[in-house]
Amino acid sequence: MTTSRIAGFYNLPLGERLDKLAKSTGFALDELAAFHSSGLTADQANHMVENSIGTFNLPLGLGLNFVVNGREVLIPMAIEEPSVVAGASFMAKLARTGGGFTVTTSAPEMIGQIQVLDVKDLMKASMELYEHKAELLAEVNSIDPVLKKFGGGARDLEVRIIEESPIGSFLVVHLIYDVRDAMGANAVNTACEKLALPIELITGGRVHLRILSNLADHRLVKASCTVLLKELAFTSADGRAFTGEQVRDRIIEAWAFAAADPYRAATHNKGIMNGVDAVVIATGNDWRAIEAGAHAYASRDGRYTSLSTWGKDLDGNLSGQLEMPMTVGIIGGATKVHPTAKAALRLMGVKTAAELASIIASVGLAQNLAALRALATEGIQLGHMSLHARQVAIAAGATGMQIDEVAAHMVAEKTIRIDKAEEILKEMK
Ligand code: MEV
Repeated sequence: MTTSRIAGFYNLPLGERLDKLAKSTGFALDELAAFHSSGLTADQANHMVENSIGTFNLPLGLGLNFVVNGREVLIPMAIEEPSVVAGASFMAKLARTGGGFTVTTSAPEMIGQIQVLDVKDLMKASMELYEHKAELLAEVNSIDPVLKKFGGGARDLEVRIIEESPIGSFLVVHLIYDVRDAMGANAVNTACEKLALPIELITGGRVHLRILSNLADHRLVKASCTVLLKELAFTSADGRAFTGEQVRDRIIEAWAFAAADPYRAATHNKGIMNGVDAVVIATGNDWRAIEAGAHAYASRDGRYTSLSTWGKDLDGNLSGQLEMPMTVGIIGGATKVHPTAKAALRLMGVKTAAELASIIASVGLAQNLAALRALATEGIQLGHMSLHARQVAIAAGATGMQIDEVAAHMVAEKTIRIDKAEEILKEMK
């Protein structure tokens, strides 16, 4: 792909957007066809969950303007909320002149937990587990020779003593397992189950739970971007002019609120997850795992806080970072079954799970910036309302051309409610 900027994409009629995408990317139209189909068939769905009675669709928007680690990338985003795709794309455009998004990832190491109960001497059992560490890791590595061949495998074993719990103290063994390009839940859970017997023999205890931890703090992604001051200056829809310095400082003040207050941090992080989840879902990954990991990581110091940080660099430009666990895969599960997920991965040209994690974190950071910029200047409702009004118009029964007409009417009257939309529709008829 030469560029992720496709001028005028938003204004194209729906029927022309795939043609434009094909022309801009060099993909054949049939390679993109999955985006216009209903995606998963009822038959495919039937093999995925129990009691299947159908499928559930979400809108799929295209995140534009992203440059991630120097690579232009168009990003499919599955989300029902208006403004998210537009917001992320707009912020990616502002970040481009500062070099786009720079992202680093740690090794794709997951944590598997093994709970050991009824151990007589916790310290002694811990020491013995460490003495047998090499054998235990070798046991795990015998399970999956393919993962081993691709450079993955058991990396470490950590023993923790939980001193206080409702049932008293017990041992927890952490298996650190490099799962390469998989999300890794199955691999980790299998490995934990395999370790149960040897751990019981070593400790004399009783192994209880054997399951991965979603607080995947060994599998982190860190995205950063710089937005030049000249990109930040703007005049709001209601005519207020903001300088770049003003917008920068207001964004930093808004971030400080989230950094200090868990009530605000929850909403701030929700905005980050608007972007993150949209790409996680579009690629068939487990968004519940990512959500759980994100919020647990945001509380890692004992107080829930912002996942991102915003400040100014030495030249006075706005500089942002987002760090969070990112347990996504590109092999296995729905990523390889769901036709839309497969097309999404192909469109982004993603070759490794780390590359996908980098793209997702960039969208999360861009989305956070979009929310902070709006909140810190003109307020969130001004931009949000015209898109929201269209949804209200549809809910009131507007179709085709009526949708924009009813929405515009409601925005002009500053009343966006279903009864208002119904009233306008009635007048139109
Ligand atoms: C809405 O979905 C997300 C925001 O509330 C995020 C934020 O407040 O930062 C706008």
